[in-house]
Amino acid sequence: MKILILGGDGYLGWPTAMYFSNRGYQVTVVDNYFRRNACTELDVGMLYPIPTLIQRAKIWHELTLKEIKVVIGDLSDPEVMRSFFDRSVKYSWAVNNKFSGIPDTVIHYAEQPSAPYSMIDYKYANITIRNNLLVTNNLLFALRDFSRDTHVIHIGTMGEYGTPNIDIEEGWLQIQHKGKKDKFLFPRQASSLYHTTKIMDTDLMWFAVRMWDLCITNLMQGPVYGMETQDSVIDNQLRTLFNYDEVFGTIINRFIVQTIVDYPLTVYGKGGQTRGYLNINDTLQCVHMAEKTPAKKGELRIFNQIMETFSANDLAEKVQRVGNTLGYDVKIDHIENPRKEAEEHYYNPTYQGLLDIGVEPHYLTDEVLKGMFQVAEEYKSNIRKDVIFKGIKW
Ligand SMILES: NC(=O)c1ccc[n+]([C@@H]2O[C@H](COP(=O)([O-])OP(=O)(O)OC[C@H]3O[C@@H](n4cnc5c(N)ncnc54)[C@H](O)[C@@H]3O)[C@@H](O)[C@H]2O)c1
Repeated sequence: MKILILGGDGYLGWPTAMYFSNRGYQVTVVDNYFRRNACTELDVGMLYPIPTLIQRAKIWHELTLKEIKVVIGDLSDPEVMRSFFDRSVKYSWAVNNKFSGIPDTVIHYAEQPSAPYSMIDYKYANITIRNNLLVTNNLLFALRDFSRDTHVIHIGTMGEYGTPNIDIEEGWLQIQHKGKKDKFLFPRQASSLYHTTKIMDTDLMWFAVRMWDLCITNLMQGPVYGMETQDSVIDNQLRTLFNYDEVFGTIINRFIVQTIVDYPLTVYGKGGQTRGYLNINDTLQCVHMAEKTPAKKGELRIFNQIMETFSANDLAEKVQRVGNTLGYDVKIDHIENPRKEAEEHYYNPTYQGLLDIGVEPHYLTDEVLKGMFQVAEEYKSNIRKDVIFKGIKW
């Protein structure tokens, strides 16, 4: 089976590449280093240095004899996207430069993934809108023109739903109106421009499925935590990137690093903001199970990809408790909320679909948190307090 990973240099993309490569799939990754360049431009360094994508593919090949083909290219350029389907692709690195074939599955991660980044100012909002929508639209047209049977697995976000005062279903809602019934996309209401682009992605994909009978799975993911996966443990250089700053760091990753450098855990406002979370290893499992049971032709299949829900206060308390057992004196600071969002709200999402197709969840145990502390402590001397909080507001 041939897998194309869009955004293969990213936090989720690289572990996904190793995961499928290790299981015998022919994997090609493409990336334009958008994320690395954004970190450099905003001066929000990562916790440890990451070899380039080509270097990582070479290390992977040396250690496993398996090939991950690499293309460095911008997928918002339609010709780059189309090259994977019209056979004109030029690999930036491969053991064997022969075209590996039209992909059976495309895993689409290639987007600007940060809410704060999209809200810095009009320039970053435009970059986010332009990049995310063009990449998705280029993919849909490439499939329309060359390969309508290729299964797309796109990572959406639970943030598309917002925090409605009703239970959140998996993507769709049956509505009864004036005596008649129909099924619609669940109402969406984003709280950042990044999340708005994800809603628009979903709309583009739903359009393409209706018009051209494409097969798409949209995984509505919550914030992911962790840096080590079963495939990365063979060499530290294969570990995925880890940001702990306000722009690209997700909350659990940030709290761990804050603890290590004696920086009070920054809970925004009252801290009742509740979201669904998952371990990076479960992202891999979910994508794998979705790949094994593809969406049908003309189907936009949507699963909510979270394993448990926590409020910001719950997470701060968990990290504080584990941090204290490790000898840190962990303080929690309720800072003025830089975001416009509900700080106390109802939150009851359904997340059964992925379990039904075989995903076995990992949970955020004290042991898991201790494992993350262990890795982050190795790089304590790299941690820069000045990037933890940049004061982006909306
Ligand atoms: N990490 C999370 O907690 C999380 C949660 C919910 C949803 N998601 C979604 O999952 C996907 C992957 O997230 P991530 O955390 O791995 O982000 P990431 O930024 O680490 O990975 C995205 C990768 O795509 C690349 N990319 C972006 N635009 C590109 C373009 N035009 N051409 C080529 N490559 C491009 C980036 O350089 C980056 O390497 C994103 O769509 C994100 O919205 C992530």
